[in-house]
Amino acid sequence: MGELARSIGYEEVIPRDLHFRMNTETVTRHWFNGDPWMTHWMNAILAAVPDGERWVMNSARIQLDNLKDPEVRQAAINFCKQERIHAREHDEMNKACVEHGVPIDVVERVFTRIRTSLQGSLSPDMQCSIAAAFEHFTAIISSVMLENPDLFDETDPELRAMLFWHFVEETEHKGVSFDVFVEASGGGLSGYFKRVGGMGLAVAVGVPIMVGNQAYLLYKDGQLTNWRSAIRMSDKLFVRPGIFTRIFASHFLPYFSPDFHPWDDDNREVIRVWKRAYDKSKDTHKAFDALKAWTLRRRQSVNGSSAESSGAKRKLAIAH
Ligand SMILES: [Fe+2]
Ligand SMILES: [Fe+2]
Repeated sequence: MGELARSIGYEEVIPRDLHFRMNTETVTRHWFNGDPWMTHWMNAILAAVPDGERWVMNSARIQLDNLKDPEVRQAAINFCKQERIHAREHDEMNKACVEHGVPIDVVERVFTRIRTSLQGSLSPDMQCSIAAAFEHFTAIISSVMLENPDLFDETDPELRAMLFWHFVEETEHKGVSFDVFVEASGGGLSGYFKRVGGMGLAVAVGVPIMVGNQAYLLYKDGQLTNWRSAIRMSDKLFVRPGIFTRIFASHFLPYFSPDFHPWDDDNREVIRVWKRAYDKSKDTHKAFDALKAWTLRRRQSVNGSSAESSGAKRKLAIAH
């Protein structure tokens, strides 16, 4: 599947130089539905975005001369354009959080220190492998969010428009870092071990930092013992819709398959709903609304058909 999937997606990578109004009104203190634990869970991830984007851009740039496939090279260039714009908009979002007294700047400084020290010590291939791992995480988080836009019902429309634009573009370019890594490292068995090693390092370094950062932000916000909010977050992460459970079970483990490719999970349909609405209206709010309406319709039809089939099964059982 890996080689087949590799041809998917390059034409999807379209940089859109969009600006969003990121300020203390659109990014409220507890911007994720007024919920402190969910907000700081997302803040702990999003705080890493500007610096993470610098990591993945640099990892692709240092390999550009080693890329023989012109399509991969062009996709890598467009990918860097997208990531530069994402970093700019998330810098603005993070500034608004800092204005609320949420110390995201302290968290960001930790990421910057780690990034510069790893960039100084790791080979270009390993930097690229870690970039592919980061990009896999951003793609799978984006995939779950794109399927569940109603999670953001009480988030400011400008902020969720920004986040969903980013989720769409992360999906558009989800294969690029991976292909740059494979092309530059030469693939094969040694490429596979480097890929798994990069993912291992990304998890070993990234997960404790994220957990620590969330605890730090909650502590500074005086919300560490807000158990109601902690329970609500656990429900969202592990039960409904089970963000974390879906990420781990459906998307994380396949990365370790030797012939894995990010486009094995071909979810272009969902981003094309957003893109069609955006291309028609040039309005990211309308594109979000169209996506949300589409996911609700799809959920209803899935529920309807599963209700129909369980009804049919019941009838069959009665008849027998
Ligand atoms: Fe990005
Ligand atoms: Fe990305």
